[in-house]
Amino acid sequence: MTAGSRERAWWDEGVLYQVYVRSFRDSDGDGVGDLDGVRAGLDHLAWLGVDGIWLNPIHPSPNADWGYDVADYLDVADGYGGMAAFDRLVSDAEARGIRVVLDLVPNHTSDRHPWFLDARSGRDARHRDWYVWADPAPDGGPPNNWLSVFGGSAWEFDRPSGQYYLHQFLREQPDLNWWNDEVREAFDGIVRFWFQRGAAGFRIDVANAIVKDRHLRDDPFLPVQDGKVPDPRAFAPEAEIYSHHRPEVHRVLERWRTIADAYEPSRVLIGETWARDLPDLARYYGDGDGMNLAFNFAFATAAFDGNDLARVIDATERALGPEAWPLWTASNHDIGRLASRWGAGDPDRIRCALFLLVLLRGAPVLYYGDEIGLCDVPVPPSRRRDPGNRQDGSGRDDGRTPMIWTPEPGRGFTDGDVEPWLPFGDGHVSVAEQRGDPASVLSWCRDVIALRRTRPELRRGGSDLLDAPDGVVAWRRSLRQDGGPTTRTVAAANVSPRRVAVPLVDGEALLATEGVRDEGAGTWSLPAWGVVAVSSG
Ligand code: NOJ
Ligand code: MG
Repeated sequence: MTAGSRERAWWDEGVLYQVYVRSFRDSDGDGVGDLDGVRAGLDHLAWLGVDGIWLNPIHPSPNADWGYDVADYLDVADGYGGMAAFDRLVSDAEARGIRVVLDLVPNHTSDRHPWFLDARSGRDARHRDWYVWADPAPDGGPPNNWLSVFGGSAWEFDRPSGQYYLHQFLREQPDLNWWNDEVREAFDGIVRFWFQRGAAGFRIDVANAIVKDRHLRDDPFLPVQDGKVPDPRAFAPEAEIYSHHRPEVHRVLERWRTIADAYEPSRVLIGETWARDLPDLARYYGDGDGMNLAFNFAFATAAFDGNDLARVIDATERALGPEAWPLWTASNHDIGRLASRWGAGDPDRIRCALFLLVLLRGAPVLYYGDEIGLCDVPVPPSRRRDPGNRQDGSGRDDGRTPMIWTPEPGRGFTDGDVEPWLPFGDGHVSVAEQRGDPASVLSWCRDVIALRRTRPELRRGGSDLLDAPDGVVAWRRSLRQDGGPTTRTVAAANVSPRRVAVPLVDGEALLATEGVRDEGAGTWSLPAWGVVAVSSG
């Protein structure tokens, strides 16, 4: 494929940026980020070249899972500044050409949500069927073998009513019953409410598991390997056929897409899609009637190795086809930070990773702090706040620590004499310090985004992966302008620790890292983790 065909929307062409509100910027000196803090950070984001921000949940919540346990979908938590702060943020963002995308949490509510308080009050309660209830197994145990993502059974016994309720996450997060039409209608109303209030779209939490098997059948265990019974927690996604990945989920997603498309301008839907494989990911886009964008965790969880990445990029392009628009990210509040995961704290590796994210065909999502190469902070056990653990046992807190704006004691995040809700960690170079340094990761990140913004083929053109030496990802972006010539940029990233000569194309280097050499005759010599973008007509 050489040219993008369908008309592109702002989210296709733009750069998205995830704001973990608690940790971005604190405006009222309580050590916790808030929406007026996000507003104060807008000039930085506009300067960087960001087109849209996705806010992690901002609703009233007991914070058992930091906002992913919603107690009221139609309000904004006081601690974040309430509804008035949301309105101020949308209007100031709009003035800078930045859209505000919210997080929709439809899989579960808080156990303090009025719907659940009512559901729990008895088997005949008005909202009983809005949640997933089941009788005990004959031995009195849980109704089936489904497991909570956070460990243990996904079922909690409710003694007064003698039934279990389902919770795929914490017991404080009861799962909604998406077979119930009233639940569907309630969420239609929630989605419309926020669109009318100025939200540019939603990131949809747990998009691959909202609907459960109607008959609550056991997930199959994986086959016994090497004579060992597998640890049930090691369920592979391919075994989660009844608790996750139900085909019926697509009807729900289509419903929201119909609503989103009816607004002017249309609103964006971004799926948190832990798909089984890349063809399965493609199904979330539907036939233009599903998600506009879907998170690609095969890419995000790949090793930082050119051969592995080229394989995933190629498989993504083949599965999605030329119309669906890929989404590239390598960090978030669950998996941790790009600068640590892929970058190992090395600025050269971080530059290389940012170059890939921003210039591949599709939309990049930067996680706050990626632009300054912020690393995970090892949060000591005494300061951990997150109930969910990563599989290696470290907390997700490590990737959620506050943004480092200045070198001052409060790091420009909060007042100097206030303890932030999670520690700052040591040794990070702040936004303010990096802004003045053309050799910083921040300057690089801005340069790569600026290149994307100035070259239409990088924003919306097609892409072909090119043959490349071991460890190198090379690709060509091309766009036929209406009636005009085709513009092309060829990019190469040496995702390996060795210098490599890459036969690429003759042309002008639009952007390159230190130590890249034009060897003539179209060959470019790239140092370890070096990258170059070359204009080729
Ligand atoms: C995915 C969110 O990203 C994560 O932070 C949360 O714990 C679960 N969904 C449950 O809502
Ligand atoms: Mg605050």
